[in-house]
Amino acid sequence: MTQPSLSLSNRSFPHTRLRRNRASDFSRRLTRENQLSADNLIYPVFVLEGEQQREAVPSMPGVERLSVDLLVEHAAEWVELGIPALALFPVVPAGKKDLAGSGAWDPDGLAQRATRALKAAYPELGVITDVALDPFTTHGQDGIIDDNGYVLNDVTVEALVKQAVSHAEAGADVVAPSDMMDGRVAAIREALEAGGHVNTRILSYAAKYASSYYGPFRDAVGSAANLGKADKATYQMDPANSDEAMHEVAMDLAEGADMVMIKPGMPYLDIVYRVKKELQVPTFVYQVSGEYAMHMAAAENGWLDGDKVMMESLMAMRRAGADGVLTYFAVRAARLLKQ
Ligand code: PBG
Repeated sequence: MTQPSLSLSNRSFPHTRLRRNRASDFSRRLTRENQLSADNLIYPVFVLEGEQQREAVPSMPGVERLSVDLLVEHAAEWVELGIPALALFPVVPAGKKDLAGSGAWDPDGLAQRATRALKAAYPELGVITDVALDPFTTHGQDGIIDDNGYVLNDVTVEALVKQAVSHAEAGADVVAPSDMMDGRVAAIREALEAGGHVNTRILSYAAKYASSYYGPFRDAVGSAANLGKADKATYQMDPANSDEAMHEVAMDLAEGADMVMIKPGMPYLDIVYRVKKELQVPTFVYQVSGEYAMHMAAAENGWLDGDKVMMESLMAMRRAGADGVLTYFAVRAARLLKQ
């Protein structure tokens, strides 16, 4: 048995009363170990074709898909609130999807147009784009499939490289591969360097699990129906694994990732903790659509205090070690933080 250290074992009751510091607001604030600010928030947004278009997402109360013009209009407040970056997710019309997801690298695609418009209006706002084929494929998988529906790794990586370069050319500050193919970070990095995009960062979805918490997102981007009963277990990680997450993160870093992400959030904070503790790199976590939906459903039923559980869940992610959180609560939390 290991002995507790001398200094700790000396601290005994009643000399030590841990409630002393908790007795007043000032001492609670002074001894608070972690902080949450707008700087820690990234806002994921769903982008629609057309003008003056807005659509609610039924499984994500409070979340709206917006056309580029409305997105730019609304972003004024988000910038003002101090949110450092947006993550863009295009909602691709059915007619623009194909087997190979070739709309993904269209220079005039929705993500590319939204990026150009946002950067023109707010040069200081970070724009993060999603690198994956699922919004663009008729089968809803993140890559190109063979006759058995298996997602082919290497040909998919070639497509992802084209997509990432087209995002960088449109002015994206950060490209975020969310596809979980092997080797895509190195391939994207090499292409970005070759294209002169030396400061385009890569935020890799390094440890992304084959999670059922993504359901509302797939409704929001309109890939749920395409995917049908198929899953993503041949490329996203098994929820049972954590050593493998360390392997994934280490590989993405070695390949040139500037920041890494763990996804989902709350059920996977042990992974966030391990990554930050063992690797000490910029670590992000995605509080995904299903987590958002659960909080909203409970709050709308009056079972939980919505604002309070929102702030608690975000602080829990900071405490676990996350530098930042991608969250659909970003604007609501930033408004509260400003008060
Ligand atoms: C797909 C992608 C997904 C999310 C972000 N990018 C869904 C998936 O992998 O099926 C999920 C985000 C969320 O649930 O909020 N490349």
